[in-house]
Amino acid sequence: MNKLELLLRKYANNFLLSDNIINDNKIEYLNFRNIVTVTDINLIKVYSIKEIINFFKEKLNSELILLDSSEPNYEMIETTSKKVVNGKYDLVIALGGGSILDVVKSSSVYENSFKNVDDFSGSKKQYTKKILKTLAIPTTAGTGSEFTHTSVYKTETNIKTWLWDELTYFDFVLYSPSLTLDLPNNITIACGVDALCHLLESIMSVKFDSQNLDLYNSGINSIWISLPKLIEDKNNIEERTNMLLASGIAGKAIHFTGCGICHCIAHTLGSMINVPHGIAIAYGLLHTIEPTLKYNQDLLSRYNGLFKNSTSDSLAQEIQDWLNNFKINFDIIENKINFEEFIKIYYLEDNKCMRDNTFYQPTKSDLKILLKNLWK
Ligand SMILES: [Fe+2]
Repeated sequence: MNKLELLLRKYANNFLLSDNIINDNKIEYLNFRNIVTVTDINLIKVYSIKEIINFFKEKLNSELILLDSSEPNYEMIETTSKKVVNGKYDLVIALGGGSILDVVKSSSVYENSFKNVDDFSGSKKQYTKKILKTLAIPTTAGTGSEFTHTSVYKTETNIKTWLWDELTYFDFVLYSPSLTLDLPNNITIACGVDALCHLLESIMSVKFDSQNLDLYNSGINSIWISLPKLIEDKNNIEERTNMLLASGIAGKAIHFTGCGICHCIAHTLGSMINVPHGIAIAYGLLHTIEPTLKYNQDLLSRYNGLFKNSTSDSLAQEIQDWLNNFKINFDIIENKINFEEFIKIYYLEDNKCMRDNTFYQPTKSDLKILLKNLWK
């Protein structure tokens, strides 16, 4: 068994790894009668995804709900939840990237089918009932949404926020690395950087737990090595497998600690402009890693493996160099952001849990300098 699979199994016993969903009967073994698959309109154009959907339809009699490939919003969740409740399904399969997984997780609770989802955001209220079982089949390696209870979505007032509840989770996860082979490099990079950031924010979190040290460090080491190799050879199935498992490990990591400063920056940017999450995260990480490590030098002792005995300067530089090697294009956000509006959203109450989860907490003027390329 792959070393990462073994590690993830210490924390999660509800996932299957399959290189060929159609032939190995792993879904059928779950034994459900009334199934619905949720995916997005762009994904069904991908051959390998179309094949799986047809298989679910013919073999499992699954119905299909197709969503726009835009970011999740309150309406998508409420509409999907209504369909899922009215269909009286016993299993919903989320086939897609983080957005699809987030919508399905939050649609599987009863209240979202007839109440305003915004009433429950930021854990303001608790849900009472999960309507059906949920299966995640991630088609990107990044968000780790399959192992968290969090759904990120846009509210009625167009603010990017989060839902977290005991009941919003996946009962089963199926990793099929071959489904990620068709991803273009820019998406592989954005998703992989997001996963690495989940692990870095976890290892440097205020809520860090030394019991999970191996989880954080193994995930970091794995993404650090696998992502550049994948960009060299996008068909490397072994590295695709490693990236999926490491993203799952990263999902478990943020399940334990929550996210930090880079996610606070990325959610703020995501509320203001239509920027892919991984790009906003990469920008946040590039510009905050140095002060975060310098502010609390004790964080360095949490790193082992590749980064054992690093100094704050050398580790920050290595992370920046690693990110810069991917030549991520930040044109979509640079010189496009209104500083005052950014500050207003950054300091919203719903962002507090991310803001306060990193020891280093920049002031308004620190942010102005740190993120200086963003401002109009
Ligand atoms: Fe993320």
